[in-house]
Amino acid sequence: MTTIALITGANKGIGFATAQLLGARGAVVLAGARDESRGRQAERDLLAGGAEARFMPLDVTDDKSVTRAAEWIDAEYGVLDILVNNAGITRGDGGGRPSETTLGTLRAVYETNVFGVVAVTNAMLPLLRRAAAARIVNVSSEVGSITSMTDPDSPLYPMASVPYPSSKAALNMVTAMYAKELRDTRIKVNAANPGYCATDLNGRRGFRTPRQGAEVSAHLATLPADGPTGTFWGHLWASGGEGILPW
Ligand SMILES: NC(=O)c1ccc[n+]([C@@H]2O[C@H](COP(=O)([O-])OP(=O)(O)OC[C@H]3O[C@@H](n4cnc5c(N)ncnc54)[C@H](OP(=O)(O)O)[C@@H]3O)[C@@H](O)[C@H]2O)c1
Repeated sequence: MTTIALITGANKGIGFATAQLLGARGAVVLAGARDESRGRQAERDLLAGGAEARFMPLDVTDDKSVTRAAEWIDAEYGVLDILVNNAGITRGDGGGRPSETTLGTLRAVYETNVFGVVAVTNAMLPLLRRAAAARIVNVSSEVGSITSMTDPDSPLYPMASVPYPSSKAALNMVTAMYAKELRDTRIKVNAANPGYCATDLNGRRGFRTPRQGAEVSAHLATLPADGPTGTFWGHLWASGGEGILPW
């Protein structure tokens, strides 16, 4: 049976690497991208790597784009097995310091990292409900863990920023609530922590590769029937391993 996987923000970084991994595992990969030329390039690169891939025009902050994507997937496949809500941005005034954060910045980050996830998920849910074992992966971050960010022993403790960390904390709650609502269905919903990966998001300063980050999303996207739902799982900065993160 064919597995249909939609990855948002799949034209580069961790999203592109996730598309590569799921494509290598036999999924038909719908590579979401908001820019046509970047999306077409990603499609070409994925096809050249042997994946069955198609560019999916999708700006997660644009309701019409989200609706069109869901209608297109419905018309082409009638079902969606995997949704990886990967698209994300970071911005910060004054390094993101709470006292210097403007509402404009906060709104922009939430539009993509939180509202975009809810919009895409709700548009895709009718298709996901038709799948035999659907998986939703929300790509979060350890900086969204209130426990890690307030633990003086955590490597993340020195960071005091509002827009990006609070958007990922909100995304964690969004994940937990979808998992609760969908607990009696075949759909599993989990939040992923890729770890600090070298991508454009952070000026390529991360110490992990996009591929390592993508392994986390791919793992949660292919969980077996007895796998967990409603968890926050992935790279653990303090230990360097992988496991459940505190909310
Ligand atoms: N890198 C890390 O260390 C790290 C750590 C923890 C979590 N994450 C999370 O991992 C995810 C992927 O980030 P990344 O590091 O791979 O960053 P990236 O290389 O900057 O990629 C971000 C992707 O999201 C897309 N995107 C942004 N806004 C969008 C929108 N409105 N609609 C559709 N796509 C949009 C970008 O498209 P364009 O090319 O058009 O901008 C790009 O494809 C994000 O959710 C991020 O928060 C990253």
